[in-house]
Amino acid sequence: MMSARHFLSMMDYTPDELVGVIRRGIELKDLRNRGVLFEPLKGRILAMIFEKSSTRTRVSFEAGMIQLGGQAIFLSPRDTQLGRGEPIADGARVMSRMVDAVMIRTFAHGNLTEFAAHSRVPVINGLSDDLHPCQLLADMQTYLEHRGSIKGKTVAWIGDGNNMCNSYIEAAIQFDFQLRVACPEGYEPNPQFMALAGDRVTVTRDPREAVKGAHLVSTDVWTSMGQEEETAKRIALFKPFQVTRALLDLAAEDVVFMHCLPAHRGEEISEDLLDDVRSVAWDQAENRLHAQKALLEFLVAPAYTPE
Ligand code: CP
Ligand code: NVA
Repeated sequence: MMSARHFLSMMDYTPDELVGVIRRGIELKDLRNRGVLFEPLKGRILAMIFEKSSTRTRVSFEAGMIQLGGQAIFLSPRDTQLGRGEPIADGARVMSRMVDAVMIRTFAHGNLTEFAAHSRVPVINGLSDDLHPCQLLADMQTYLEHRGSIKGKTVAWIGDGNNMCNSYIEAAIQFDFQLRVACPEGYEPNPQFMALAGDRVTVTRDPREAVKGAHLVSTDVWTSMGQEEETAKRIALFKPFQVTRALLDLAAEDVVFMHCLPAHRGEEISEDLLDDVRSVAWDQAENRLHAQKALLEFLVAPAYTPE
């Protein structure tokens, strides 16, 4: 009984399924804005395992489950047997007999695939060292709301070729857009994802070249969670990759700027960038809630059939 569908990567779903989830996210946002009670997941439980810190992911999944009529349980490895060496497979076997879905934020992506392989219920990637697919659902919803379809558009990723960048590569494939990555040498995205994308993704050392005419510009912190000891080196190396208002001026007239947050003003973005009219970062953050509610609705069947 290992047939549950998971969401570990954007590649787990077809392009139509992804667009369906995003459009549903927009509907669920509208329902909430109109104050309509919608509780299809009454009696359902999401377990959330966080090996790394989080604001948006935790609050959006927890609030989302509650709004859908269910509940969420926050688990830290510090307090569970997972943190004391109980095999991931055993944790998966046990937890998935008790809850209806599991969200995991972890370091090694292999922890997610291992858990999913032994879980009876859907497993959701809440960020790994390799990927952050939930953030891309929110980003794609945000672009659709502000500018319409992203198909055929040009996206510039400025900075570290990290987990977010890898998910942008997957999104380029699934949503059919061109992605230009500007990063320092040695900080390219994972070649495995690059190979998947073929000529949809190009890498440059020049942020201006990447941003020229782009419809969406996105960046992320220079030092991801788990890399803290590299901070000083990264700050020096990434300096030419700061996204500023002047850099955005080189993009398309209708460009939008996104940042998955948390942001370090004065590092990957200038102090004023989130206040620029081209920034949609707060809508983007809010959409984590709506897009993930649509994802939960898609993955978790209602517990009770209405009479
Ligand atoms: N963007 C994002 O995933 O934020 P958190 O680390 O706060 O969850
Ligand atoms: N790249 C960042 C994203 C945080 C949401 C990290 O992994 O820390």
